[in-house]
Amino acid sequence: MSGRIRSEAFRNKVMAAHDAAELVENGWNIGFSGFTGSGYPKAFPEALAAVIDAAHNRGEEFRIGMWTGASTAPELDGALARTGGISYRAPYQSDPEMRTAINNGTTYYQDIHLSHMGPQVSQGFLGKLNLAVVEASAITEDGDVVPSSSIGMNRTYLEHADKVIIEVNSWQSEDLYGMHDVYYPIGALPPNRVPLPIQNAGDRIGDKVMKIDADKVIAIIETNDPDRNTPFKPLDDDSRAIAGNLLDFLGAEVKAGRLPKNLLPLQSGVGNIANAVLAGLLEGPFENLTSFTEVIQDGMVDLIDSGKLTVASATAFSLSPTAAEKMNDNAKFYRDKIVLRPQDVSNHPEAIRRMGVIACNGMIEADIYGNVNSTHVMGSRMQNGIGGSGDFTRNGWISSFVTPSTAKGGAISCIVPMVNHVDHTEHDVQVIITEQGLADLRGLAPRQRAQAIIDNCAHPDFKEPLREYVKLAEKKANGMHTPHDLATALGWHVRFLETGTMAQ
Ligand code: COA
Repeated sequence: MSGRIRSEAFRNKVMAAHDAAELVENGWNIGFSGFTGSGYPKAFPEALAAVIDAAHNRGEEFRIGMWTGASTAPELDGALARTGGISYRAPYQSDPEMRTAINNGTTYYQDIHLSHMGPQVSQGFLGKLNLAVVEASAITEDGDVVPSSSIGMNRTYLEHADKVIIEVNSWQSEDLYGMHDVYYPIGALPPNRVPLPIQNAGDRIGDKVMKIDADKVIAIIETNDPDRNTPFKPLDDDSRAIAGNLLDFLGAEVKAGRLPKNLLPLQSGVGNIANAVLAGLLEGPFENLTSFTEVIQDGMVDLIDSGKLTVASATAFSLSPTAAEKMNDNAKFYRDKIVLRPQDVSNHPEAIRRMGVIACNGMIEADIYGNVNSTHVMGSRMQNGIGGSGDFTRNGWISSFVTPSTAKGGAISCIVPMVNHVDHTEHDVQVIITEQGLADLRGLAPRQRAQAIIDNCAHPDFKEPLREYVKLAEKKANGMHTPHDLATALGWHVRFLETGTMAQ
């Protein structure tokens, strides 16, 4: 035994993953730990997949509901999706096999704001939670759970599940102890809620560990396996240009006296471009930065190392293998500068609004009036999910979206007449940024927005088709507040299906 399980009561429950998986019954809902590829259980899901496959081979029905913090990894989302045995999935995912199961009708998927997941589980909208399977870095002498590289939904799942399985992973650094801040009063439902006492990104308001009812624990599994840890793409010209446009904008806001010199707490979305923005900050003029965000990516760790970022609050890591190794080797240093919180605290609208977070997220496409689609391709096909982008965009001080101006090798314009699915409305989106430039939509009416977005953000190949669309829409709608010609607006997307290109 690894020595990470320091409570006698829990040591007696250690068993092999395949024995633990045999305890699961058809029809259960299971709440798994895991957020952006970190802190998910490593051994149990594949063992459960084998149990489900075996049942299917015997001709028996075996399907489960699968809830997580956010996206996980092939060993969890991939392994279980492959069985065809996932009846329901929430809230955010990014796994190719899970995406297939969702889009081919095998799995119902509910795309919930990450800050809403806790209250919805607590109220029972997703049904009864039969089992929580949570990764830990240790179990203390008192039987408390030390979280690992993410917290996500763990507090809520441990509280609400009938039964609990803990995976204790020795790969995770023991020095993570003290980095977590588990705040319990946030779980209260109205009218018993209290104000969230976070004034600054780095405020610690909760416990270092998660409480658990030992009687609910049916198995402890020991593992020694790394998180998913996908390397980021090297910075290319587009991502550098996007980062540069955002940093110039922030510099101008400081100059105009609308932002302090050290900006306001930064939120940075998932993916390569978000990471490139952080890399841009490394070379930029801003000092004493803070971050109130959802995930800690490589760029943020580099900013901490450089001394430019003093503190970062999040719910999970999303690191490359190299950065994950650095984190594991130096967790004692980083735990004074990083706070990992439950996702209903890291993404809490009240804290985001009060502190004035600068939000920056990726998107699939934006339309000429500033509505943003973060989730769907061609109106029907789910890509990943909204994640926390709605939590931060709706409540941020500055809400921005970044994307290259085209996708699929230049065949598709990411600026379109009308988005094929709306995640963020024109009322919430303030700034749109591509490698071409930046459109500041604050203070602009819809027809002014259309001009700013086409002029500043659209790719040169698509500017003219978009301007033609505006002319046509204004003529057909006879002016109006938000001119559209619906057949042409939707035809813009349909044309791609027919010809493989959006070009006129
Ligand atoms: N039309 C069709 N497909 C498009 C597209 C468009 N306008 N824009 C992008 N895509 C496709 C890409 O081609 C790529 O497809 P592939 O997987 O087949 O290669 C895929 O969408 C992802 O695009 P990519 O350029 O790799 O973008 P990314 O890694 O920066 O991710 C989002 C962009 C929108 C998918 C991602 O930011 C996301 O999931 N956002 C929602 C959640 C979120 O914002 N979380 C942060 C909260 S803290």
